[in-house]
Amino acid sequence: MRKKLIKKGNLYFPSKEFEKRAWVNDKKIYKEAAKNPIKFWENLAKQLFWFTPLNSAKGNLTGEQKWKKTFVHKPPRFQWFVNGKINITSNIFERNSLGWESIKNKPALIWEPEPIQEKFRTFTYEKLFREVNQFANALKKLGVKKGDRIGIYLPMIPEAVISMLACARIGAVHSVVFSAFSSTALKIRLQDTGAKILITADGYWRRGKIIDLKKNADDGIKGTKVKKVIVAKRAGNKVKMEKARDFWWEDLAKNQPDFCEPEIMDSEDTLFILYTSGSTGKPKGTVHVCGGYTVQAKFTGKWIFDWRDEDIFWSTADLGWITGHTYSCYSPLLNGATFLIYEGGIDWPEPRRWAKIIEKYKVSVFYTAPTAVRMFAKYGTGLLKGINFESLRLLGSVGEPIDESTWQWYFKNVGQERCPVVDTWWQTETGGILITSLPGIGPFKPAFTGLPFPGIKFDIKNGNLVLLPPFCPGLLRGIYKNPKKYLDTYWKKYGKKIYFTSDAAYKDKNNLIRIIGRVDDVIKTAGHRLSTGELEDAVSKLKIISESAAIGIFDEIKGEAPVIFIVLKKAGNIEEVKKEVIIQLRKEIGPIAKPKQIYLVDDLPKTRSGKIMRRILKKLFTGEELGDLSTLANPKSVERIQKIIKN
Ligand code: WT7
Repeated sequence: MRKKLIKKGNLYFPSKEFEKRAWVNDKKIYKEAAKNPIKFWENLAKQLFWFTPLNSAKGNLTGEQKWKKTFVHKPPRFQWFVNGKINITSNIFERNSLGWESIKNKPALIWEPEPIQEKFRTFTYEKLFREVNQFANALKKLGVKKGDRIGIYLPMIPEAVISMLACARIGAVHSVVFSAFSSTALKIRLQDTGAKILITADGYWRRGKIIDLKKNADDGIKGTKVKKVIVAKRAGNKVKMEKARDFWWEDLAKNQPDFCEPEIMDSEDTLFILYTSGSTGKPKGTVHVCGGYTVQAKFTGKWIFDWRDEDIFWSTADLGWITGHTYSCYSPLLNGATFLIYEGGIDWPEPRRWAKIIEKYKVSVFYTAPTAVRMFAKYGTGLLKGINFESLRLLGSVGEPIDESTWQWYFKNVGQERCPVVDTWWQTETGGILITSLPGIGPFKPAFTGLPFPGIKFDIKNGNLVLLPPFCPGLLRGIYKNPKKYLDTYWKKYGKKIYFTSDAAYKDKNNLIRIIGRVDDVIKTAGHRLSTGELEDAVSKLKIISESAAIGIFDEIKGEAPVIFIVLKKAGNIEEVKKEVIIQLRKEIGPIAKPKQIYLVDDLPKTRSGKIMRRILKKLFTGEELGDLSTLANPKSVERIQKIIKN
């Protein structure tokens, strides 16, 4: 029987037993790291495998000295481990710091398909390595070179992990697109990266149905530079294969040699590009690099999820998001851990599927979003009777603020008051977790994410959370092909030396940070990131619409959900129009963009210069004082909208 957490006032601390076993359990680490954060990261980085340049005179490096300078800052640009040479896959496989012999026969990846009658698949480190090498060689045979961008549009199947690692092995830049994004969303991203190859699948299972992914991929590549499409077989649904363009994965990979030399990558070479939503309609391609990302992925996972040999880790996030990249692929693998990925709906075919998975695989560390927990709670604890959660020892939360009652529900009913809850704050941009209390130290306080990770410096400037130099090794290095956007989004509000997170936050007397939420036009719905601009652009493409405004409002399950206001060019059937808007959002973005409400209005509140006042629309739902409306060009519109909402 494991011990319960220790409660002191409104704070929780790990049990002595938990503390003793943890990788990090001495709070001195915070002070030491803060004295010299650059040295702190340097010491961690040294535990990884770096190549010694063959020509050390040219690289000006010796075997001992792995890079020239640990941190170089030319605001707003910065570099880590300058001139170091690394490959993330060497650090996962043959040069893993745990020793290849000691990990090669242990399971790396377990895959749980959605249909319950279907068998799971397991990959040991050795098997995964072989498949990565073979697929890397197949990509090379198709002509892929270092620096080429490759699109990955795959469901949650092992081939998604294998594709990412194969790209990393040969220095190709992967850009994963969430498989539930529409073909239009795929197209926009492929056009931006200029990818010539797309990796996809025939289909996949989602809530009892086969989703025809290949068809989406076919539509998505129209008007892009994609010349070759690699198709993994998953659902066995019938797909159209175009000659000389489409190839089956297995045909390409099966006869390839099972070793591929790792590409020697510069620390600052790009590892991947991942798109996320900003304050405009166009998604931004965040650029992540080899050296810094590897270091941060390795040690944040090790210390926060506290993996040991016997742990089974399950993160419910999709590989299409940063959480999937870092904690359902790179981080557990760098730590020789065993992790699980699951194909389908966590409440399918029954509401407690997620709990059944925990029980079946004896998951010990479980990481999910507050939205999922609120959904579990809504189904009621009755459903969990008879479920054995004994295997769990640590719980994590990510993606959106977790309110106190959701935290308590998770802590009591899933963690049985034995498991620390690490609420982890980070962003697509930061590459890895930056704020959370460490499980072996604490304290854990409901609704507070905790302390910055050792070596990380945050400040709160007039309510806004900002990250101070030396930032973190994994922070994005740019927005792909858009330096201006990079500068404007992150390095303008507080100058070029301060990274603006776009989140509001405050600290309690113990210095624990509480995240309030976004201060820009980003909506966090079910942990996903959408921008009001994206929603409005999609809706405005409909001929019947004259203009639209999107806002996020409170939702008891999703945290926030989009609400759309539309103005029509000429009168139309309200129900028909609403249907069209929903279809349009699904087509342009995907199911995550489904609005909670659509309101047909005759005018939107605007300033005299024509800017739509989303803030006022939002206040109509929160009940806040509307303030002085007389500066609006059309103050009367607000009253009329208020009436429509009340009806
Ligand atoms: C935004 C980033 C990073 C993984 C997934 C989200 C919000 C993230 C928390 C948390 C409160 C959180 C912030 C942040 N957020 N984690 N633990 N508590 N808010 O990545 O899609 O890039 O979104 O998610 O608003 O800025 P993302």
